[in-house]
Amino acid sequence: MTILYTRSEIEKKVSEKKQQNLSIGFVPTMGALHEGHASLIELALKKHPFIIVSVFVNPTQFNNASDLEKYPRTLKEDTSFLSVYGSKVCIYAPSPKEIYGSKIIAKQYNFGGIENVMEGTHRPGHFDGVGTVLNHLFRQIRPDEAFFGEKDFQQLQIVRRLVKIEKLPLSITGCPIHRQENGLAMSSRNARLTQEQLEKAPFIYKTLLQVKNDFGTKSALNHKKWVQAQFKKNPDLNLEYFEISNIKNLSPLSRKRKHQKYRAFIAVYAGEIRLIDNIALN
Ligand code: PAF
Repeated sequence: MTILYTRSEIEKKVSEKKQQNLSIGFVPTMGALHEGHASLIELALKKHPFIIVSVFVNPTQFNNASDLEKYPRTLKEDTSFLSVYGSKVCIYAPSPKEIYGSKIIAKQYNFGGIENVMEGTHRPGHFDGVGTVLNHLFRQIRPDEAFFGEKDFQQLQIVRRLVKIEKLPLSITGCPIHRQENGLAMSSRNARLTQEQLEKAPFIYKTLLQVKNDFGTKSALNHKKWVQAQFKKNPDLNLEYFEISNIKNLSPLSRKRKHQKYRAFIAVYAGEIRLIDNIALN
């Protein structure tokens, strides 16, 4: 398994592949790899002979210093996790300097308003950080296609807008949420949950499934009240937000319209670990 650490190393590798006329798939991650990441890589491998997986805990997208400090960093385990793919996959694990140079700052983006709802409201500046790091990574790696999980559905829509704003020549593909058997969406943050929290957390998906089941039988406000009541009965999980939104512009549902698609979005704290999930409703 090849691990590259510097901008010049990755640019050299990319040039080699381009000279051989090989297309490049890209899976950006912050490490602590799990089966959800593996599903992105496997999808990418069906379409491209060579995949780059970046492992970079991006400082500019954390609005909480302790979350950044405690984010799992497991490059050794990540390397052995990816070793099954042999030379078809390479890891890019840069330092902040290789990405940002001497100034670790985020560019300020206007993503047309979708950056100001849900995750954007609760994590100010988060999407500027995500946009900035991906802009740097896309320019260094020059992939033909990049793959993102739909667990971060809002992020996926932000990335689609980013490539338009930055006029980047790559396509963006969203991939289905990978879940544990008990329904818990796979996330690097799950590695920080205690056994007890791991047992409680599938309640998040169970709640979303019930909302999907009831969708169309009550108003968005009544769905919200119902979800809030469920979490009040479950004090180990702290509801941060629940929203039903149109998938295109992520605006909250006020009146359901024909031919529009909606998803329910949720963010919950298990202790100090923040978990997000979402589900397609129609
Ligand atoms: O989803 C993530 O892991 C991160 O937000 C990403 C896309 C790797 C950017 O740092």
